[in-house]
Amino acid sequence: MNNIGVIGLSVMGMNLALNMADKGYKVSIYNRTTSVVDDVMRDHGHKNFTPTYDLEDFVKSLERPRRVFLMIKSGKPIDMVIDQLMGLLDEGDIIIDGGNSYFKDTIRRSNYLEDKKINYLGVGISGGEEGARFGPAIMPSGNKEAYGHVKDIFEDISAKAYGEACCKYISTGGSGHYVKMVHNGIEYGDMQLISEAYMLLRDIGGMDNSQIQEVFEAWNKTELESYLIEITANILKVKEADGSYLVDKILDKSAQKGTGKWTNLEAIDLGVDVSVITAALNARYMSGLKDERVKLSTIIGENKAEFAGKKDLLDLMGLNKEDLVDLVKKSLYASKIVSYAQGFKLLSVAEKEYGWDLNFADIAKIFRGGCIIRARFLNDISAAFDQDKDVENLLMTDFFAKEINDRLADLRKLVAIGAMGGIPITAMSAALAYVDTYRSSRLGANIIQAQRDYFGAHTFERVDVDGVFHHDWIDEDEK
Ligand code: 6PG
Repeated sequence: MNNIGVIGLSVMGMNLALNMADKGYKVSIYNRTTSVVDDVMRDHGHKNFTPTYDLEDFVKSLERPRRVFLMIKSGKPIDMVIDQLMGLLDEGDIIIDGGNSYFKDTIRRSNYLEDKKINYLGVGISGGEEGARFGPAIMPSGNKEAYGHVKDIFEDISAKAYGEACCKYISTGGSGHYVKMVHNGIEYGDMQLISEAYMLLRDIGGMDNSQIQEVFEAWNKTELESYLIEITANILKVKEADGSYLVDKILDKSAQKGTGKWTNLEAIDLGVDVSVITAALNARYMSGLKDERVKLSTIIGENKAEFAGKKDLLDLMGLNKEDLVDLVKKSLYASKIVSYAQGFKLLSVAEKEYGWDLNFADIAKIFRGGCIIRARFLNDISAAFDQDKDVENLLMTDFFAKEINDRLADLRKLVAIGAMGGIPITAMSAALAYVDTYRSSRLGANIIQAQRDYFGAHTFERVDVDGVFHHDWIDEDEK
């Protein structure tokens, strides 16, 4: 009898199966197009693999409670496979969805299967192909008792960071997929912030790829240390046969699969400002309008007089190149903190909305290894949440309030430089605006309330007296 079965043998499924097999687990493998099973056995066969060619044999080959790991395309295909498995599984068996499923689908499927006494675990997995093969970050959710039956396998195959498995039970329902969705939103934010840092060094600093590469490599030994900074430094090294840099040949249009969009839709739904992540999403949309951008650049010229000349800007500001590098570094870190603070804020609102019990210090720990956003400063995030579990926002913790305070003037200066040079650093600008908004003890929303009351009698509250008020603005106007 095998310990676990994997359905879906695309690269992610196959690599996870290989990872489990390497750790000594006996794995049944199955794929809807059965020739793929043979391909996998031929090219990546493992002594702990049992190939199966129909679902009944697959299910029969598993010890109880049966553990069926789905690594198939999210959406309809999952529902179809669940339907096919229904007649074959028994009470207490466990279906695991390790794909990037939409969390509301996971909640729906869990409820449906709960009625049939089948356990359903929605599991966020990050780390791409390499992670799946050698150690991903794992975010499992669902019935805790059922999780007990897969915990050891998951912890064995997960990445390890600072001696701990990057796998911790999240909470019930679709919380694991939710955390993975927010991870991807943060991933979008990080990637956009890094591309803005690159643009600033390239276009304001006039630096070439090898100079920028050295900067990123140096940053990766500081508080900015992270997988995405590391791979950016690697990317900037790659040359083509003719000696030119590959990165200069890549079209500046970014694609996406949709999880960053989900994070934004969800944030809007719950009324949470994730502006850095929103800026990152919009930047991807705008990058896609390459032809229109090229057209508009000839209509509203890129180098018109309202911009300070990009190259002279540093002189104008009394800065040299090293100053710019330092400003960009500090601004990148400050903006990154804001982006993570927004992501964790979304999680804290979702926790209440969906009735989960989330441990933010643990979630930060999961993110420390295996996943795309792994970064040194997640240690600090985890420690900050450990110290103050109920804090409203990461920015209010002693550690991060100081980190932001120490860099806010630099971020402000850099956003001004970006504006003067016509460099669209929308995520960094959003980070600054978020801090400025969040720390304002008095905003301009009194005018909005007055307007609402003026045209719609929507009422307002007062700063001096408790209660709800309406004013007869129009009569007053006519006096
Ligand atoms: C991960 C990645 C993974 C995938 C993204 C890419 O954590 O392993 O986030 O899920 O690479 O979905 O997303 P986009 O295509 O939307 O950039």
